[in-house]
Amino acid sequence: MNDHRQNLHAFARAMPKAELHIHIEGSLEPELIFTLARRNGVDLPYASVEALRAAYAFTNLQSFLDIYYAGASVLLYEQDFFDMAWAYFERARADNVVHAELFFDPQTHTDRGVPIRFVIDGLHRACVKAQAELGIRAELILCFLRHLSEEAALATLEQARPHRHQFIGVGLDSSEVGHPPEKFARVFAAARALGLHAVAHAGEEGPPQYIWDALDQLAVERIDHGVQALRDAELVARLARERIPLTVCPLSNVKLCVFAQLRQHNLRELLQRGLVATVNSDDPAYFGGYINQNFIETLDALDLTGAELVTLARNSFDASFASEADKARYHAQLDACCREFGISR
Ligand code: ADE
Ligand code: ZN
Repeated sequence: MNDHRQNLHAFARAMPKAELHIHIEGSLEPELIFTLARRNGVDLPYASVEALRAAYAFTNLQSFLDIYYAGASVLLYEQDFFDMAWAYFERARADNVVHAELFFDPQTHTDRGVPIRFVIDGLHRACVKAQAELGIRAELILCFLRHLSEEAALATLEQARPHRHQFIGVGLDSSEVGHPPEKFARVFAAARALGLHAVAHAGEEGPPQYIWDALDQLAVERIDHGVQALRDAELVARLARERIPLTVCPLSNVKLCVFAQLRQHNLRELLQRGLVATVNSDDPAYFGGYINQNFIETLDALDLTGAELVTLARNSFDASFASEADKARYHAQLDACCREFGISR
C-alpha cells in the first residue's frame, strides 16, 4: 500500500463520524448470543459460535432477517439489552463515532413476552453511560416491523408512550417488498404528533416508488438505504433539492446481494448527483464489520478521495438529529482531523 493510501486509511479511521443506521439487535455478535443463551437458559438451533457464523450466508434481505430474529431470541432482561448496546458503544468508540442514533425493534421482543420497559430502559441506560464515559452522544429510534400490521405498530407506539422521553424518533424496517410505506401512514402521523422524528427504510430492495411514498405518505426526514433512487431521475432531483439524507450501508448491500460486488456500489454516484449520502453499518455483527470497516472497504473498492471521505463525515453530522450546537462542535472536530492528516476539503 502506498503512503497516500495508508494516510487515507488512517484518516478514514480517525475522522469523527456519526452513525445513523445501526440496528442494535444487528450488533449482537455470535459470542454474546451464546453467552446470553447460557445465562438465560435459551436453546439455540446452532451447536457453536462457529456453526452460527457459518449460517451467515445470505441471498437476500429475508434470508438474513430469519437468522437475525432467531439471534434476538436470547434477549430477555433489561441487563441483556444494556449489555448488547454497551458492546456496540465500545466498538463505536474505537471507530471514532461521536454521535449514534440506534434503531431498535421492540416488537421482536414484546411478541416474545418481554416487557417493553426492559427493552427501552436497558438500551437507554447504555446510551446515558456512553455519553458519560465514552463521550458518545447516543439516541434511540423505535422501529416498527413492516411485515406486521399497522394495528400492531399503533399498539407498540401506545406501549412506548410512557417512555417518550427516552427515544427521539420512529423508523420502519424488516421485509420491504410487499409492505409499502402507506401501510403505516396513520402510525407515522401519530408519532409525528408526539413530536418524534421520522425515518424509514426504503429503496433497499424495493422500488423508487417506496422512497416517494416514504416522503409523501410518512413525511420522513431521512431515507434508510435509498440506493434504488438512482433508477428515477425525478426522485434524485427531489432528494438533492430537499437535501433528504440517505443512510447507506455498503457492506450490508453486498451481503444481501443488492450489489454483486462492492466495486459496483453506487455510493460515489449518489455523492456526484449531490445527494446527502452517509456510510453506516446496518447490522455489523452479520455483515462483516462496523462503521470503519465499511469506510475502509468502500474506500478501497471505489477508490474514494479524501474530499469524498470528508463529505461523507460532514453529511453524517448534517443528516443527524443532533442540536445545531452539537453539529457545529462535530464539524470543528472534523476540521481539526483534516488538518492533522493534511486532507483538503
Ligand atoms: N432490520 C435489520 N436490518 C435490516 C435491513 N437491512 N433492512 C430491513 N430491515 C432490517
Ligand atoms: Zn437497516
